[in-house]
Amino acid sequence: MKENIIPHNYQVSVADRRKLNQHSSFLLWFTGLSGSGKSTIANVVEQELYKKGIKTYTLDGDNIRKGINKDLTFSPEDRTENIRRITEISALMIDAGVVVLAAFVSPYKKDRIKIKNVVKDVNFVEIYINTSVEECERRDVKGLYKKARIGEIKNMTGISSPYEAPDNPDIEIKTEKETIEQSVKRILDYISPKLELNHE
Ligand code: ADX
Repeated sequence: MKENIIPHNYQVSVADRRKLNQHSSFLLWFTGLSGSGKSTIANVVEQELYKKGIKTYTLDGDNIRKGINKDLTFSPEDRTENIRRITEISALMIDAGVVVLAAFVSPYKKDRIKIKNVVKDVNFVEIYINTSVEECERRDVKGLYKKARIGEIKNMTGISSPYEAPDNPDIEIKTEKETIEQSVKRILDYISPKLELNHE
């Protein structure tokens, strides 16, 4: 089947779309435990970008798993498939000229390396939201840690399923040591040159 699929070349390129938008496009990938603060920080970063007239879109684990990925569980295989689909969606959105923010636990190093390979290194900003499992469990915003402790939830990341922290993230946010404002500023400062059209 594959050999019969011949890609069609479209004349409007990603460079054209970026030029029209007057900014570059890439992926901000937020990884960290459930309740670490990924969505909260991504949300504020997106609002700041919106104010600057940057075209953005946020993909979030909890939302995506209600729609396109509602067939997936939290088994290792399904998490990998979850990230694979989001990677492909992100690649399309980067091609569409959008700055994509993706907030997923994404606990496996191998899956995050694949994202970088698919969207290309230059388009990938890995942001590690480093909040200890103790603090996530203390916050327990969604009550999931409690459920995991009493065995109501299996495969809970940090409790009964592993989280492989990035060795060398582009940005590491320690939410127990810095405020949301400080974290957001660090992210915006980091991406500011990347937003320029001639950057690369
Ligand atoms: S991932 O591991 O496949 O990247 P994803 O980011 O899509 O996870 O979804 C994580 C969200 O699902 C968490 O924020 C949490 O609200 C919810 N969730 C439900 N069950 C689990 C679980 N077993 N492990 C982690 N998160 C879970």
